[in-house]
Amino acid sequence: MAKFKIYHLHDVTRGRAPVLHLTSSDLNQTKMQSVVIPVCEDSDIHDAPAILNLISNARKYQEFTGKKDQELIIYDPPDTHFDRVILTGLGKLKQINPDTLRSITGKAVKKFIQKQISQTLIIVPDETLIHIDTSLLLEAMLEGAFLGNQLFDLYKTTKKYSPLQSIHFWMKPELVKKYRRLPLKVESVCQCTALARQWVSTPSNHKRPSDFTKAMVSAAGTEPISVTVLDEAQLNDKGFGAILAVSAGSQSPPNMLVLDYNPEGAGQTIALVGKGVTFDSGGINLKPAASLEDMKMDMAGAATVAAAVIAASRLKYPNRIIGIMPVVENMPSANATRPGDIIRTYEGKTVEIGNTDAEGRLILIDAMAYAVKLYTPDILIDVATLTGACVVALGEKIAGVFSFDDELAEALIRSGEKTHERCWRMPLPEDYKELLKSEFADISNISSSKWGGAITAALFLSEFVGDTRWAHMDIAGPAYVKKETDYCGAGGTGFGVRLLCDLLEKLPSAH
Ligand code: BES
Ligand code: MN
Ligand code: ZN
Repeated sequence: MAKFKIYHLHDVTRGRAPVLHLTSSDLNQTKMQSVVIPVCEDSDIHDAPAILNLISNARKYQEFTGKKDQELIIYDPPDTHFDRVILTGLGKLKQINPDTLRSITGKAVKKFIQKQISQTLIIVPDETLIHIDTSLLLEAMLEGAFLGNQLFDLYKTTKKYSPLQSIHFWMKPELVKKYRRLPLKVESVCQCTALARQWVSTPSNHKRPSDFTKAMVSAAGTEPISVTVLDEAQLNDKGFGAILAVSAGSQSPPNMLVLDYNPEGAGQTIALVGKGVTFDSGGINLKPAASLEDMKMDMAGAATVAAAVIAASRLKYPNRIIGIMPVVENMPSANATRPGDIIRTYEGKTVEIGNTDAEGRLILIDAMAYAVKLYTPDILIDVATLTGACVVALGEKIAGVFSFDDELAEALIRSGEKTHERCWRMPLPEDYKELLKSEFADISNISSSKWGGAITAALFLSEFVGDTRWAHMDIAGPAYVKKETDYCGAGGTGFGVRLLCDLLEKLPSAH
């Protein structure tokens, strides 16, 4: 049988011409295949006469009122050179927030892809009328459009659709001038988000640890990022007992990737650690069949971290940012680690393996202890699809944030509010640590209680970070969607990339 060509893990987004543009061209003269006008139900949010005219014509017949998700298409409207104008309802003014706009642009772009339209002009509401700062409004609209414009059709033999070639945003001339740099910034961050999505969506047979690591290395390639890959022999020599224990059952050797972005005069050092399990079968504690195929997404933490480091470098952030990704496959086999086995971790503590399916925390503690020992970071953040329990607690759209550090937890949550990658703070109760006691080793990798699994997993991690300022993000829920959403296709969501970029951008560059 012919071997599948490995082409899908490459960075498909780089080197493309920019897609997002700002314009204040004369609307009566502009030729365009499609125009999107967001319309509010109970208030005017535009002040350009050409746009107000189109809206008031449409409102005449009461069929289109601007109710949420309502839509009206006008073909060849008079006095314009537009092929079609799409009025799209936002609902009541009070209920509109930046994510409403992110969704609107994402959905519009997706619809145009289906219709084989290649260009669009989106009218940006006036900030004084919509009561949202243009900076927030525009950034959200740019993000929704760019992210909605991504396709994952690498495994479709015939490719029916292509992304739009250009997406224009219409604003007043002074605003176009003021925000002229925003489109490229958004493209950088969203390209990295798209990259993370693509990696997560890639099936595990095309994403063995070495494939995934090579893909991350190649994406970091042209950036001023120094790259280190520890292979299995080096992991062995250096004593990464937990990573090796998880990987023991797999035919594919593990590795650990370090992406170090260290700009001149860097202030703080931020270490980001991402869980990179390219497939989580559960190991000897084999998972049940339901949704096992989704466990290709168990490397989403690593994808998010790698993408964030690359974005930070493209945007020239002032701090040192080190991404550390332990990459393994968790499989059952005659060589696999067994329940009851005791291993020695990189940090030195011994761990009794209560359950081989609690593998994420094992690879993370080795990587986190390494981060602390080698780099003494000012801040350590780990990102992981760590527990089903977190999905039970918060559902599929919200990540859990765990930290002893109020300021860090709040900063993460605030960034998530801005990017609409929602996070909820979870507790780290000292007394729950008892649940991790082992009769035979220093600690067990599972809790003795069946309740509060997201918390005990986080507490387990906390034993390996010393007194470093640390936060843990459990993204098991929001990292992956089975069905498309407004500005994301089915598969990886890239959850956390935009959030981390926002956080890293805002971190002070001095101690
Ligand atoms: N990768 C899973 C967690 C997960 C579950 C991610 C659902 C995405 C969706 C993790 O490695 C795992 O298996 N966790 C176990 C821990 C348990 C054995 C203590 C779980 O959540 O059941
Ligand atoms: Mn598992
Ligand atoms: Zn896992």
